[in-house]
Amino acid sequence: MIERTFVIIKPDAVAAGHVGNILNRYEEAGFRPEAMDMRTIDGDFADRHYAEHLERDYYPPLREFMTEGPLVAVILSGENALVGVRELNGATDPSKADPDTIRADFGTSVRTNCVHASDSAESAASEIGLWFPEFS
Ligand code: PPS
Repeated sequence: MIERTFVIIKPDAVAAGHVGNILNRYEEAGFRPEAMDMRTIDGDFADRHYAEHLERDYYPPLREFMTEGPLVAVILSGENALVGVRELNGATDPSKADPDTIRADFGTSVRTNCVHASDSAESAASEIGLWFPEFS
């Protein structure tokens, strides 16, 4: 089934110069960008994106990190994009991610883990609505 998912290339990956390499992983696997935008978000926007995580002890430094510099927001589409993109990303903790995944290759810590991808069709719809309202 052709699906849409939402991806963030996080500020650590942008600062380190990995945007092209990360996009290449998705394109090589058959996923195509439908929308893409580099932007710097503020804390209120981060709170809306991470609404389910606001009470977690890791959230304040995650909020700081996600607002510290530009990121790239992307809508990707393709066959089974939801699961496929998360497989390409690898586990949340880069040190536990499978070899050759994006997080294993470009992530440096659980916080600075270089990419985000929607974890369900519902979160993809809600995240696309938040980040790219013109596409929802
Ligand atoms: S995942 O891979 O996106 O499904 O990650 P998940 O385990 O569900 O965690 C949700 C988001 O919280 C971030 N996270 C953390 N950040 C900093 N420190 C710690 N310890 C930590 N644990 C989880 C994780 O990177 C996920 O962010 P996103 O932006 O969704 O990838």
